[in-house]
Amino acid sequence: MNKCLGPLCILLLVLLVEAAPQGSLITHLPGFNGNFLSNHYSGYISIDGNGENGKNLFYYFVSSERNPSKDPVVLWLNGGPGCSSFDGFVYEHGPFNFEAAKSKGKLPTLHNNPYSWSKVSNIIYLDSPTGVGLSYSKNITNYLTGDLQTASDTHAFLLKWFEEFPEFQANPFYVSGESYAGIYVPTLVFEIAKGIRSLTKPVINLKGYLVGNGVTGSTFDNNAFIPFVHGMGLISDTMYEDVQANCKENYDYDSNTEDDTCSKSLEKVSRVVADLNVYNILEPCYHDPEVARNKSSNLPLSFQNLGKTERPLSVRKRMFGRAWPFRAPVRDGPVTLWPQLMAADLGHVPCVNDEVALAWLNNVEVRKAIHVNQASNTWELCTDRISYEHDAGSMIPYHKNLTRLGYRALIFSGDHDMCVPFTGSEAWTRSLGYKIVDEWRPWDSNEQVAGYLQAYENNLTFLTIKGAGHTVPEYKPREALDFYSRWLEGKPI
Ligand SMILES: *[C@@H]1O[C@H](CO)[C@@H](O)[C@H](O)[C@H]1NC(C)=O
Ligand SMILES: *[C@@H]1O[C@H](CO)[C@@H](O)[C@H](O)[C@H]1NC(C)=O
Ligand SMILES: *[C@@H]1O[C@H](CO)[C@@H](O)[C@H](O)[C@H]1NC(C)=O
Ligand SMILES: *[C@@H]1O[C@H](CO)[C@@H](O)[C@H](O)[C@H]1NC(C)=O
Repeated sequence: MNKCLGPLCILLLVLLVEAAPQGSLITHLPGFNGNFLSNHYSGYISIDGNGENGKNLFYYFVSSERNPSKDPVVLWLNGGPGCSSFDGFVYEHGPFNFEAAKSKGKLPTLHNNPYSWSKVSNIIYLDSPTGVGLSYSKNITNYLTGDLQTASDTHAFLLKWFEEFPEFQANPFYVSGESYAGIYVPTLVFEIAKGIRSLTKPVINLKGYLVGNGVTGSTFDNNAFIPFVHGMGLISDTMYEDVQANCKENYDYDSNTEDDTCSKSLEKVSRVVADLNVYNILEPCYHDPEVARNKSSNLPLSFQNLGKTERPLSVRKRMFGRAWPFRAPVRDGPVTLWPQLMAADLGHVPCVNDEVALAWLNNVEVRKAIHVNQASNTWELCTDRISYEHDAGSMIPYHKNLTRLGYRALIFSGDHDMCVPFTGSEAWTRSLGYKIVDEWRPWDSNEQVAGYLQAYENNLTFLTIKGAGHTVPEYKPREALDFYSRWLEGKPI
């Protein structure tokens, strides 16, 4: 290659490196003054070929900063349903740390993120399903969807994406996500595996999947909550004994509404934890200053100042998402979207701070730079534009099937998340009955214990991240990059 210097060679090199679709390369980003550490691409893929009236899925692709031609390709999905994967890009493991502007609505400043997952992988952030984030259709019938349709649409997206980026077809491929993506990930991996069996082209080099603080099925999700709040010291032994006795150790909120003593005990529990930050019980709850000011007559000053911090690039005090499990458990049928929950549940201040992402992704120049179409909606972190049906049931049969087929799985949990607590993920991974091959032990990062893990046969690993909340890399970026890179490389974590 070093002998190749003429203009023809340069043209050849450009052709080799950039098989990517024309116009998808990002050349600059408002708010960022440095050099890109790798190539970034973004744009739409029309999965049905119906143009503006069809399903146009938006992706932002960050190629690896290490070895893009060899490193794995990882698809990232945030949950909701209805939440944009720019949550992962802006707040969790994207290539930049976003520093808020001094005044509201102004452009944030972007700094390179030393713990970006693009340090060791090529990563696709996808807004899915259609209607979420920057993905859109002019025919809103396309905003009615569910688990199975979403999995099939995302599979269609991937096949087209790999057609447009053929240079990545041979790389190992993984699917990852968190929260409601506990449903998106296994259902999608199942579709991809089916496609591989039926020799669908292009062949995706599927290796496995990762789920962080993921929803799995109502039984495990709902029964995780009481042991968690008790173990964390948030309810007393007496309350724990009461709720155990009255609910007969079945804490499934809805199925107990007939049973008065059980619902009363559960209500009592829910009252004492109601003001905590559900996404990380150690963090304060962010209160919108305007809302706090309106309530100032009956709130102490200390309460209004909650969420203020000295840290220059603080984590958000509470992430937008769904209040699993006791407010709206995941059940078969239509899923209530988060903005709808808020409207129905007055008095529950949502503690949301998504200002940086809102300001950046709705800026005209940013949208131009990342190739956002005029027809795209205003960007929101989580939307109620879509109607979503949970129609895939429990994820246990999916996990059994996929791990037995030889796909690797990493199930990780921030152990201070009350939204989808680790107790549920620990219980369901154990319930598969696989032989333990690496018994419960601490794992390290930066010469400190970073959490615990237990590994099972069939390449299934359950891992906790000590002190992290619902969105693990947001709270523990260094630790997250450590377990992520070790696991992808197949090394012991
Ligand atoms: C919108 O989509 C639905 C379902 O695919 C289809 O039946 C209808 O004809 C479409 N409408 C337009 C205006 O394209
Ligand atoms: C604060 O109160 C004013 C007047 O009652 C109202 O118009 C405004 O919407 C409130 N703001 C918020 C954020 O609740
Ligand atoms: C997984 O599911 C597929 C499709 O239903 C089926 O053909 C296959 O036998 C299953 N494999 C295992 C190991 O359960
Ligand atoms: C686990 O994954 C490795 C590749 O990392 C593979 O060689 C091995 O066969 C897998 N084990 C099982 C039980 O599927």
